[in-house]
Amino acid sequence: MRHLLSMRDLDRDGVLSILDTAASMHDVQRREVKKLPTLRGRTVVNLFFEDSTRTRSSFEIAGKWLSADVINISGKGSSTSKGESLRDTVLTVAAMGVDGLVIRHHASGAARQVSQWVDASIVNAGDGMHEHPTQALLDAYTMRRALGDLAGRHVAIVGDLTHSRVLRSNLICLSRLGARVTVVAPPTLMPSGIGTWAAAEGFETSYDLDAVLPTADAVMMLQVHTVICHPGPMNRGLEIAADAADAARSLILDQVSAGVAVRMSVLYHLLAGGSAEPAARS
Ligand code: CP
Repeated sequence: MRHLLSMRDLDRDGVLSILDTAASMHDVQRREVKKLPTLRGRTVVNLFFEDSTRTRSSFEIAGKWLSADVINISGKGSSTSKGESLRDTVLTVAAMGVDGLVIRHHASGAARQVSQWVDASIVNAGDGMHEHPTQALLDAYTMRRALGDLAGRHVAIVGDLTHSRVLRSNLICLSRLGARVTVVAPPTLMPSGIGTWAAAEGFETSYDLDAVLPTADAVMMLQVHTVICHPGPMNRGLEIAADAADAARSLILDQVSAGVAVRMSVLYHLLAGGSAEPAARS
């Protein structure tokens, strides 16, 4: 794997390989000394043109725990705010000898475009309304830890489906893992052409959350009888009730924790150059 631009870059075996590596990376989080030598001598730049708490900080931690040199550049405070184009910014950063570039940008397709300009491995950390593949991977990782194999499990994804890049990546990822997915939203928040999309990708749609909940094993957002996932940032009271966000069955902070392990795994798969998987359990 050279880049991670979309969940479509990974087939079922690719997804499972990332999740299995993430499981061994997750053990590092519980160690006193949180450091593996795997990416020593590699340089990773986090280039964020959109605000982020979870993704940027977990990619920074992931790179540092793998011993890479990690540099953070944000749109605000960089020369893009003086008018420099995305292409010139990316070429400038790449010319400094970067091995991996993690990019978040408000334009759909930005990560793929950047991958055509530079030799570095590119990770899409969220591009407009298109995709957020590492979010889908950490969601799958978290649900597998709670529920086991996701094949045949029923996942409901609830909310603003029209504008969600998390939805798009999750639909692909969960389909790779054999889960049954129902997307739930009021008609105003259902993407146009959802019927054709659902038929092509093999998921179900509903306007009626109450009808879906009894068979759901996991719900992204809302309700407390099942495990609850939310990618964050949470708008409490609008997207999710506080008692659901803080419920014992809420996995929201487990998702954040998994984000570091999954992003370590992605950096390892992109940048370790075929070196043997680190014996993270030793
Ligand atoms: N889920 C997610 O992408 O969160 P951030 O915007 O905080 O990175």
